[in-house]
Amino acid sequence: MRFELSEEHLMIQQAARDFAQTELLPGVIERDDKQQFPAEQIKKMGELGFLGMMVDPKYGGGGMDTISYVLAMEEISKIDASASVVMSVNNSLVCWGLEKFGTEEQKQKYLTKLATGEQIGAFCLSEPEAGSDATSQRTTAIDKGDHYVLNGTKNWITNGSTASVYLVIAQTDVEKGHRGINAFIVEKGMEGFVVGKKEDKLGIRGSDTHSLMFQDVKVPKENRIGEDGFGFKFAMKTLSGGRIGIASQALGIASGAYELAKAYSKERKAFGKEISQHQAIAFKLADMATEIDAARMLCLRAAWMKDNGMNYDKEGAMAKLFASRVAMETTVEAVQVHGGYGFVKEYHVERLMRDAKITQIYEGTSEIQKLVISRSVLTE
Ligand code: CAA
Repeated sequence: MRFELSEEHLMIQQAARDFAQTELLPGVIERDDKQQFPAEQIKKMGELGFLGMMVDPKYGGGGMDTISYVLAMEEISKIDASASVVMSVNNSLVCWGLEKFGTEEQKQKYLTKLATGEQIGAFCLSEPEAGSDATSQRTTAIDKGDHYVLNGTKNWITNGSTASVYLVIAQTDVEKGHRGINAFIVEKGMEGFVVGKKEDKLGIRGSDTHSLMFQDVKVPKENRIGEDGFGFKFAMKTLSGGRIGIASQALGIASGAYELAKAYSKERKAFGKEISQHQAIAFKLADMATEIDAARMLCLRAAWMKDNGMNYDKEGAMAKLFASRVAMETTVEAVQVHGGYGFVKEYHVERLMRDAKITQIYEGTSEIQKLVISRSVLTE
């Protein structure tokens, strides 16, 4: 078993670190404050290949592995989790799902633009009454022969107003339960598709989260993904990979806060010495470093399993469950290390603490991860 990263992985990690420092750090506090989408920065991320990292180069992607994606997600998330959620949704939920299950025509039409960042994608599963309980879709898609008619509302959709392409999960045949659910590619501008209100959020405030309304939207049959009734499995398989992305985001939020706390503890003096020389602070840093390392290993293991064609449902859920807990705990402690400075925006850690919380909620709450893990371990 080897733990070191390859030259190529180190280069990708460094490129993401440099990009985050030079392009994302300036203005990150202001964007959070004003809930401003990092449009220019996302455009550059697309040009650098961060938005379609794992997509085959023949569709405009970077052809990289999931380990590279984890490394890049960590670096981007250390600085700007609002930018990294756009990256995660586009890579894991939209590009991966389309590349894995889309038709050649769908890939040519949509994936090529999404992989380069020319267009941004959104994944639309959650509803006012169907977040964790994903089988209870109220959005309907009625089969009308050569097209479906879509009606319903989706909630908390990342990239809600900035996306051009939306993967929408809807119930086609309620009698069939989860086997009556389908996934559709919906384009912005289709008649009857309305982007609703923007959410005013606790964290990841630079990303745009909206509700979406579908009122008799005609979706051509060729925009259905996979066989009739494949939508629920499509969503589950896609979310399973997405959890590695969000676990890496949580990891980045934690390691970003840890690095800030460590640096601050070496500058700040109290009782005649740097606070890092007080055991109360040094032990906090020791705990943070240990937990972050463990979270990183879980993320990399899940990524490695995915790259090697193994089933990673349980390991991805473990990575997300643990890394998101570490993100929450580490950011709270990082604020504590900073004392009063930690409570003000200028020092970044309060933002990281607010951003950390969503990693325990989206792409499956911590409770959902425990459900996935327990079902798996109990049948082993
Ligand atoms: N891969 C393939 N198939 C899967 C699967 C997976 N990972 N998980 C479940 N399935 C299949 C099952 O095998 C089963 O199929 P069969 O009946 O043919 O055997 C079918 O799906 C139904 O499975 P379950 O009975 O296990 O379904 P359930 O109703 O008990 O739900 C759940 C399972 C794990 C709770 C699921 O509903 C879930 O993951 N919920 C959370 C949804 C979620 O993550 N929402 C977040 C929204 S997206 C988001 O946040 C994006 C963003 O903007 C950042």
